[in-house]
Amino acid sequence: MERKQVLVPEADLARQRDFEEKIRAMFAAREAHPVACVDTFGCQQNVADGQKLMGMLGECGFTFTDDPKEADLVILNTCAVREHAEQRVFGNLGLLTHTKKENPEQVIALCGCMAQEERVSKRVRESYRHVDLVFGPHALWKFPELLWQVYETRRRVFAVDDEHGTIAEGIPVVREKGVKAWVSIMYGCNNFCSYCIVPYVRGRERSRDPQCVLREVRELVESGYKDITLLGQNVNSYGNDLGLGYDFSDLLADIDKIPGEYLIRFMSSHPKDATKKLFDTMARCAHVAKQLHLPFQSGNDRVLREMNRRYTREQYLDLVRYAKSVMPGLVLTSDVIIGFPGETEAEAMDTVSLVDEVGFDALFTFIYSPRPGTKAASMPDPATRAEKQKWFDKLLEVQNAKSAALHAAYIGKTVRVLVDGESDDADFPLSSRTEGNRLVRLKGDKSLIGQFVDVTVTGSNTWALYGQPVQ
Ligand code: SAM
Ligand code: SF4
Ligand code: F3S
Repeated sequence: MERKQVLVPEADLARQRDFEEKIRAMFAAREAHPVACVDTFGCQQNVADGQKLMGMLGECGFTFTDDPKEADLVILNTCAVREHAEQRVFGNLGLLTHTKKENPEQVIALCGCMAQEERVSKRVRESYRHVDLVFGPHALWKFPELLWQVYETRRRVFAVDDEHGTIAEGIPVVREKGVKAWVSIMYGCNNFCSYCIVPYVRGRERSRDPQCVLREVRELVESGYKDITLLGQNVNSYGNDLGLGYDFSDLLADIDKIPGEYLIRFMSSHPKDATKKLFDTMARCAHVAKQLHLPFQSGNDRVLREMNRRYTREQYLDLVRYAKSVMPGLVLTSDVIIGFPGETEAEAMDTVSLVDEVGFDALFTFIYSPRPGTKAASMPDPATRAEKQKWFDKLLEVQNAKSAALHAAYIGKTVRVLVDGESDDADFPLSSRTEGNRLVRLKGDKSLIGQFVDVTVTGSNTWALYGQPVQ
């Protein structure tokens, strides 16, 4: 029953293909070769959505440019997670008044998480009148129809209704060339961490059918992708809505059976749903990278409670101990927020001490940014920006020393890497990643790109390792 409501019916998707055909025919009749610029901000889920937009645009006959001045259609695919990200988008939208002045036929679209915020769509409606199309993540699959409406009516189109969300299978995708690919296995979030906007803009959790995920991964492996990342806001709750008695560990184990030379990664994992079964499965499956992104956000139990994270510091540390015990050499990364409303210096230092205790390979660190509409945005927030910055700097100091020491310990060792492209360092012209996703700058020839290679590590700093292929 549930699935019927969530899956977009095939007939509706076929209608979208008709709109793609109409747009293609319209440009063919004008003997025009339309060009689009798709600018994506935010997380990998948004990158994956951007690749779907490009897939649909490809079907409409568009080619692509990075320069908005050259484009007939400019799309800003936005992120709402922090205020700074939003300000950048409003800045970019402002600049597009100039490109539109040069080319009045240019169509400008705003989509992604910001577009789904009522506050934002209202502001764009009133103050950014050069924007022709605004649509949120829920309307992504209807993009061909919305674009056709803009071309046909020359009116502004807004598709930003609040809904729980759907799943649309079979949308074409334009992937980056190379070895890396993203596969969304679920959409939305049910967790409502009190600081976070994502559940409000991405709807409720819904998991893709396991067979659809398996088919997509198999096709990627067969077409030469070697570094495949499964995406969801909390992959650990994959399958909860399917009622199949099939969870994320089961999915990983089934993917692992696909033959070939490739690595599977995933993000993000919520600690409240991380299980021993997951870590045992990771340890057992040869294709699953021994790398875990397990955001802890705060090392203080009161702050964790206020954040609605639903685990304690001790429970987090237990998980990490178990994961490391079954996967020696596990590469562990995390997300942290400093300056949550009401956080004291002592509480922030609990976060710093957790970082010191665990020894993460890398951290994604953020200063709290109030998001209107979330619970935390209305909590008293007495600490000053300068105080928060001081705590943040302390955190970075501890983490940078850890990263540098962990990296230095690699020197003299041999590691297996996947060479994924060129680097900007003339002495180490190749860029590669270890199984744990550590960046290794490499001596060697371009012909190694796309291959797994054994490398001797010869140097390191806080951010990267340096090495050369084993002779
Ligand atoms: N679903 C993922 C999870 O729970 O691990 C995280 C997704 S969120 C897009 C990425 C990170 O942004 C979060 O882990 C959190 O550290 C950070 N973040 C989210 N809301 C924030 C806010 N209001 N201010 C600062 N950082 C925030
Ligand atoms: Fe945001 Fe929490 Fe959901 Fe992650 S789990 S997307 S931090 S609400
Ligand atoms: Fe991702 Fe930003 Fe949306 S982090 S889910 S693009 S709010």
